[in-house]
This record gives sequence, C-alpha cells and structure tokens, in this order.
Amino acid sequence: MRQISSFAKYHEEYKTSIEQPEAFWAEVAEYFAWGKKWDKVLEWNFTDANVKWYSGGTTNMSENCLDRHLEKHANKVALIWEPNDPKEASKSLTYRQLHTEVCKFANVLLGLGIKQGDRVCIYLPMIPEAAVAMLACTRIGAIHSVVFAGFSSTSISDRINDSQCSLLITADAVYRGDKKIDLKKIVDDALLLTPSIQKCIVFNHRNSAIDMKPGRDIWWSDLMANANPIHQVARFEAETPLFILYTSGSTGKPKGVLHTTAGYMVYAGYTFKNVFNYQMGEVFFCTADVGWVTGHTYLVYGPLLNGATSVMFEGTPSYPDHGRFWDVVDKHKVNIFYTAPTAIRSLQSQGEEIFKTKDLSTLRVLGSVGEPINEEAWHWYDKNVGKENCPIVDTWWQTETGGILISPIAGVTPLKPSFATLPLPGIQTVLMDEKGNEIAGNGTEGNLCIKFPWPGMARSVYGDHERFRQTYFSTYLGYYFTGDGCKRDEDGYYRITGRVDDVLNVSGHRIGTGEVEDAINQHDYIIESAVVGYPHDIKGQGIYAFVTLAGHASGDEHVRDVIRKTVTEKIGPFARPDKIQIVKHLPKTRSGKIMRRILRKIAEGATDNLGDTTTLLDPTVVDAIKAGAL
Ligand code: WT7
Repeated sequence: MRQISSFAKYHEEYKTSIEQPEAFWAEVAEYFAWGKKWDKVLEWNFTDANVKWYSGGTTNMSENCLDRHLEKHANKVALIWEPNDPKEASKSLTYRQLHTEVCKFANVLLGLGIKQGDRVCIYLPMIPEAAVAMLACTRIGAIHSVVFAGFSSTSISDRINDSQCSLLITADAVYRGDKKIDLKKIVDDALLLTPSIQKCIVFNHRNSAIDMKPGRDIWWSDLMANANPIHQVARFEAETPLFILYTSGSTGKPKGVLHTTAGYMVYAGYTFKNVFNYQMGEVFFCTADVGWVTGHTYLVYGPLLNGATSVMFEGTPSYPDHGRFWDVVDKHKVNIFYTAPTAIRSLQSQGEEIFKTKDLSTLRVLGSVGEPINEEAWHWYDKNVGKENCPIVDTWWQTETGGILISPIAGVTPLKPSFATLPLPGIQTVLMDEKGNEIAGNGTEGNLCIKFPWPGMARSVYGDHERFRQTYFSTYLGYYFTGDGCKRDEDGYYRITGRVDDVLNVSGHRIGTGEVEDAINQHDYIIESAVVGYPHDIKGQGIYAFVTLAGHASGDEHVRDVIRKTVTEKIGPFARPDKIQIVKHLPKTRSGKIMRRILRKIAEGATDNLGDTTTLLDPTVVDAIKAGAL
C-alpha cells in the first residue's frame, strides 16, 4: 500500500490526487485483490447524487481482509479480544482462525437461505462474533446493518423494518462495567414488530436465561458445530451494496446510509495505512463500538485490509477503575490508540495519579475522533498518554464519508491542537458562504463542503435515493454538504467548529433533536417539546428539553422521570435529556414556528442578548422561560 513518508510527499501526493484523481485512485486500488480489474475508475454527477467507482471491476471485501493474508501472515494475530471483566481471559484470533470462523459462518448464512443483496441485522456486543458476522455477510454479498447494542427495541424494529432485514444476529446478554444488558429480551420486544425477520441467531455469551422461540431462534453454536470451514469466495461487482448504517439527521427518522463494496474498501484500506502510518506488526486499538462507523472502518475493515492486529475491547474506560484503557494498552502492547474526546475528558477529570503504574511506552501514535477535541483535552492526552512523544491525529469524518477526510498524517503533518489540519489526498474541501459561494483564501470560516467524489463516500440512503440527494447535495448545488461549520486558518489548516444543523453530538453519539422530540411527544403528558444542545464539560454537548404539559400531567419530578424513561424506551439511554424544563409556552413566531435559536441561547446560559425577538408572537414567554432556566 502507498504510504506518505514526508510533508513534502504529502503535498506532492495531494497535488497529483487533485490533478489526476482517476490515475491516483487507480494506483491505490492496485494494492487490493480483484477478480477482474475495473473498466472505468470514476463516473459521477453530484446534481443527481450518482457516483460510481471502479465500474466493471469485481472484488470481495472478506477475501481482501482475510484470504489474501493467509499465504504470508496466517499465524499473525488479526483480532485481540479484551473482555469487560479483567479477571476473564482475553482471546486472540489469527488470520487463519478468523478466516475459518468467517468461512463457517458464511456457510451457515447460505444454509439459512441468505443470498446476495439480502439484509442482515447485527445486534451484538463487542465480541469477535460481531466481526465474524460482518465479514461473513460481505463474503456472500449480504448487506449487513449493524445496530449499536445500546439502542432500544423500538430503534431496532424501526431499522429492521426500514431495510426489511430477514435475519437478526444477537447474543443473550452482555455486561458493560457492572451493568448487565439483556440483549435478547430487548430483541424479543423488537421482533414483535418486524414481519420481515425469519430467523434469529443467538450467540450464548453470558449463559443468561433467555427465551428461544421455536422455529425462529437458533443458537450460534448449534449452527457452527457442523458448519463447513471451506468457502470459496465469489467476487462482486464494484458497486454491490456492502452495508447499511443508520445515522441521525436534522429531520425525520434516522437514515440508512448505504456504502458499496470496492470504493469503501479502497478508501478504508488507504486511510488506515496512511493516517495512522501503520507499520506491519503493530497493534492497533480503536475504542469505538462496532455499532458506529468508526468501529466498521477502523476496528474491522481498515486494519484487516492491511493485515494489522486490531484490539476489540468489550468494556468501558472506567471499569473496574478509570485506568482500564491504559491496562489494555499495557497488557496488549498497543502501538496505536484511537479514541473519542469525550472519553479523554471523562478520564481527565479523574486526575493523573493512575498513570504511575502503567507502562504506555509501546504507544507511537494517538488518534481522536467523533467531535472537536478542545485544547485542554488535547494537551492532557499528549502529556499523560503520549508522554509528549506521540503525534495526535485529530481525524474528521462522518458515517457518510466512509473514512477519514481531514486529518494529520501521523509523523508527517505538523500538528496544531484542536485542528484536524489538512484534507487527505483526493479530498477537495471547500468552505461556503451564506450565499452559496466558495470562500477563497485563508483566515476564514464557512460551511464545509466537498466538491469532488472520493471512493469511500456513501452512495445512497437505503430505499430513498431522493432523500440522499436532498440531504447532502441540494443545499449547495454540485457539492456534498457535510452539515459542519469550519474555520480555515492562515496556514490553510481546518478546524471543525461543530454542526450547523439540528444534529447533536453527545459523547460522540450523533442524535437528531427531532428524534428526541418525537420520542418525548409520544407520551400523553406532553403537548409539545423543543430539544436543543448546550455545552457540556464531559459529553461535549448535553441535551436540554423544553416541554409543555397536558392538564393531567402532575408532579414535575414525576414528569421528568417519565420523559427520561420514554426516551430510553424509544431511542436508548444515551439520548436521555440531561435537563428538562417544564414551561407554560414555547417561544413561537407569528407563523407558529418554535424559535430554537432563543432556546439554544437560554440553554447555553445566556441571560440577555438573545438576539432579535421582535418576530415572536408573545415576547413575555421568553422572560418566563429565562426565569425558570436550569
Ligand atoms: C459528525 C459525524 C466519524 C466517526 C464518528 C462520528 C463530528 C467527527 C470530528 C472531529 C470535530 C468531528 C462532526 C461530524 N466529528 N469527527 N475530529 N472534529 N468534529 O461519525 O456519527 O457520523 O458524526 O461528528 O460534526 O459531522 P458520525
């Protein structure tokens, strides 16, 4: 795989990638195994939101992640699993072992009648079986839809129904810290509402007492016991759908972002190798859950495509104590560590004493992802974890981008705390002004867009291409709009300032304000609600809900409990509002629109200077809300 060795080389490579994108991405793609090479590197049209990479080529993701490494690296460790409970043994799977498991499970899927194009929902904790299931799906051309194991039954059934999955793969239960989560119980509730599901495979992880529905539910171990370990891959056309991953937007239900085979594969492999400057033999530890895109691209696919060793950690950063990440680094001699600012901030608040007993000397590169990293957290990370000796790559990207778009290249790009720095080769970033014009020059700020395709970009919203076009390609015609605000400093370095739409980023979890409102409004105590974000020291953003109540709702604390419970049931515990203010009226314009701008200011703690309030129907409403602000 091509690797960038100096800052001058980065500039050169960037220039080539912009001047001759097709030649550039063709060369990158040469690293991978193809059945048949492509006829055309790129066809695209941002007006209709149609993009195709490597047309005419055929390949297989699972073959590229596994089979291809067997000749030279069969006995190399592909996956290290570290359990939630440090007293339990960790597990390793070599490339050969992982390959065998995946082949067996691919045969299991085929045996159940799953075929190319079928949708398979995966609702599993952070256990190797999650990676096995994903790789087995891609091996046979089935489209996986991984649902984060923190989502509620309603969220699971919504996602299953949207993409009409016929199979669900889950486990009995899991512990996160000392908390038990009964996954199968949650699934049982979800499956009451999902007519498309025919079978449910259950992995026995915790020996928990669960119900197995005859005819529908089957044990993973029973299926695997006699499964054939030999499976010859078929190669699929480059644009064959690879996976769906649901993500929140500013309006409506979460969208099933669709990624396709060859482009995503090439981009995941290239960015993993280059951003982290991965060297053969190194151990890579990404703390993200496989339920999010970071887990897809940089825990499973990116590392395996490069023959790397990837650590999968089931637990949390604070169990049994807040030194657990560093114990994992110490124990497995981790070289590259990739986490989210929210985790860093939560550990930062616990002090530095814990580092005295940990050996972090194997660390060479640190990464950050998911939200802007504030300078204080950056320096704490640099000093305590990196010992001022490891570059920190602040990687900006999204579910829709498939892989990292703006980031330093470890050891190559000069760093600046809190800056994602420069676009990777092939990424044509632009900032737009309010009139929809590109802003030239440096020392400026605008909305971040990308004006040329890259292989890893999403191709559609599952089942709704028009929504894909509308959401990403209609705000600025001819551009992909990211939804993020961004600064570009005098050196041309990019600093992401956060979402400019109604999308919240709570502890790195992406949540639409509308989704939380919809959940709250489902309770009959509630007449109306408005949800906004506010700055939160550890989570980055907290959730602030303003609600108006029906006459029969009584007892403010009771109402708050009910709201938190409703949101947990409809979405998941991570979307629970931090603050709930009960108000008589919401501030509305004469045309009846809720003025969120004002609520946002109040939630931020502003008392005066709320901006223009002259269009309000009743300005006294604002004073009452201000007086009761939490
Ligand atoms: C949103 C995408 C990409 C994997 C995890 C999140 C924010 C992401 C950064 C960063 C500032 C960041 C953006 C983006 N974001 N990385 N390094 N600096 N902001 O994926 O759930 O699709 O969320 O996360 O606001 O739009 P996602």
